[in-house]
Amino acid sequence: MITARGLERRFRRKGRTGGEVHAVRGVDLDVAAGELVGFLGPNGAGKTTTLRMLTTLLKPTAGTATVGGCDLLSDPLGVRRRIGYVAQGGGTAPERKVADELVLQGQLYRMSRADAVARGVELAGQLDLAGLEQRPVKTLSGGQRRRLDIALGLIHSPGLVFLDEPSTGLDPQSRANLWDHIRRLRAGQGITVFLTTHYLDEADALSDRLIVIDGGRIVAEGTPDALKARVNGDRVEVGVDPGQATDAAGIAERLPGARELSVEGGQVRFRVPRGDVALPELLRALDADGIAMRSVQVHRPTLDDVFLTLTGRSLRKAEEAGHAA
Ligand SMILES: Nc1ncnc2c1ncn2[C@@H]1O[C@H](COP(=O)(O)OP(=O)(O)OP(=O)(O)O)[C@@H](O)[C@H]1O
Ligand SMILES: [Mg+2]
Repeated sequence: MITARGLERRFRRKGRTGGEVHAVRGVDLDVAAGELVGFLGPNGAGKTTTLRMLTTLLKPTAGTATVGGCDLLSDPLGVRRRIGYVAQGGGTAPERKVADELVLQGQLYRMSRADAVARGVELAGQLDLAGLEQRPVKTLSGGQRRRLDIALGLIHSPGLVFLDEPSTGLDPQSRANLWDHIRRLRAGQGITVFLTTHYLDEADALSDRLIVIDGGRIVAEGTPDALKARVNGDRVEVGVDPGQATDAAGIAERLPGARELSVEGGQVRFRVPRGDVALPELLRALDADGIAMRSVQVHRPTLDDVFLTLTGRSLRKAEEAGHAA
């Protein structure tokens, strides 16, 4: 459904300082029909820029791509007809009624009014918008609005839909509900979904396959489980009296396979191949040295660990830095 080779995009910085932003630095992508692919990366990683190139909204500085069987550069109109695009933040007119918004969007795709009305009704049913047709868009809740954005992207029945940060700004319940809808679109209609996200839980819950982007380059791809399996071992965090932390760390260090040891106050952190196997041994050794364990936590690898292993930074931290910038 999508094949991209060496996609690149540079932006010229405006203003006196000048210079260039190399937002996307040679991206290769392969997405098969029917896949639900998550494009994960921190703020500013190049997700939206890549998406805008694949949807013909932005010209690549270099590279080639085929989207929905059409060449991006020589047949942009063919691409547009075959895809749906739901922008980050959406793009609906606040005063317009839900039903009118759907029909108008259909007519933009040259559907007849009757076809657009029928398809609008069908999508409203599928996306839980039935009964809201006569409401102005501005009166919808955040979740309803996001579902309307998705309905607008699907009005012309594309086989491939691009969703940019679908659940940003929604409360946990509306997010889970939206995820259900996205899964159902894929299951019921076989639509290929390519979505960007900077939420690890969203990427984990939704994607068959993840493509991780950082600094304009793809740094990893695979199923969420396969990616997590690349981080070998569980993270263990043991709380002891701060005065005994160094001794406790010395004991932890001798556990088979222990690494990435750090001490902070009374918290001793390290990684071992299997936390459940290491814990009883650790307890015995601490006990023998008269060190009381105050707390203990074992964490299975998460996608954040994956990101940390790949880039040396935590996605959450990268995220916070992105927001601060
Ligand atoms: N029109 C533009 N002009 C100049 N720089 C741009 C432009 N669009 C994007 N950039 C820069 O390109 C980089 C990648 O931006 P992009 O919007 O693709 O990131 P993103 O991964 O979608 O981030 P977010 O999670 O915040 O949406 C950023 O450094 C951004 O500032
Ligand atoms: Mg973006």
